[in-house]
Amino acid sequence: PTTAIIIVAAGSGTRLGLGVPKAFADIDGRTVLAHALDGVLAARPMHVVLVVPHGHEQTAAADLARIGEERPVTVVVGGSTRQQSVAAGLAALSEDVEVVLVHDAARALTPSAQIDAVAAAVTADTGAIPALAVIDTLKRVDGDAVVEAVDRSVLVAAQTPQGFPRAALEAAYARAAAEGEDHTDDAALFAAAGGAVLRVPGDERAFKITTPADLHRARMLLHPAQG
Ligand code: C5P
Repeated sequence: PTTAIIIVAAGSGTRLGLGVPKAFADIDGRTVLAHALDGVLAARPMHVVLVVPHGHEQTAAADLARIGEERPVTVVVGGSTRQQSVAAGLAALSEDVEVVLVHDAARALTPSAQIDAVAAAVTADTGAIPALAVIDTLKRVDGDAVVEAVDRSVLVAAQTPQGFPRAALEAAYARAAAEGEDHTDDAALFAAAGGAVLRVPGDERAFKITTPADLHRARMLLHPAQG
């Protein structure tokens, strides 16, 4: 099927504290976004829709110049929530797209194999997300009181890209907007509309860069000797 990947890069990156949007933070002389694009370019060919913060359309252009002509690329401006940014990306899809992946630019070191695995797992009526087993013991709390341990064997941590049949994802987004719902990821939004979602194995390298410690981890993974 014709596949597109919406890369959401429109977050402010407040928790990184660098004064630039997170996607434009420097990892090793190259930005978070440039590394995210590396993973996408190494995956099987797909349309690319890049969602950037207002005023950063041109900043993204340098990274995009590398993509070349074999991959159609569209740049759009995002919204004030991730969900609104994805919606802006969906609105920019060309008509022929049948499968949509939604990917966080902040998961800059996501292996291309993970992108391909998610794309391959999407069916005409089922979404797919990469997920990792939970390592920590999880507790349910009531204020500061620890109430109980939660059975982690039935829990996983969701990553991106998350893939869906295009028409059903668009319908789910329209429904969430009409209901005024704000979901933390696309799989939750898709499931709220009645959609089924399967998991595929995630990868530790697909962690989301959020804090300065995460940026350090990305630098270590890319250049272990310089630690
Ligand atoms: O803020 P958080 O780390 O959850 O963001 C996940 C991804 O969503 C990031 O790649 C970020 O750039 C993107 N995002 C966006 N528009 C927003 C908020 C987040 O594109 N308004």
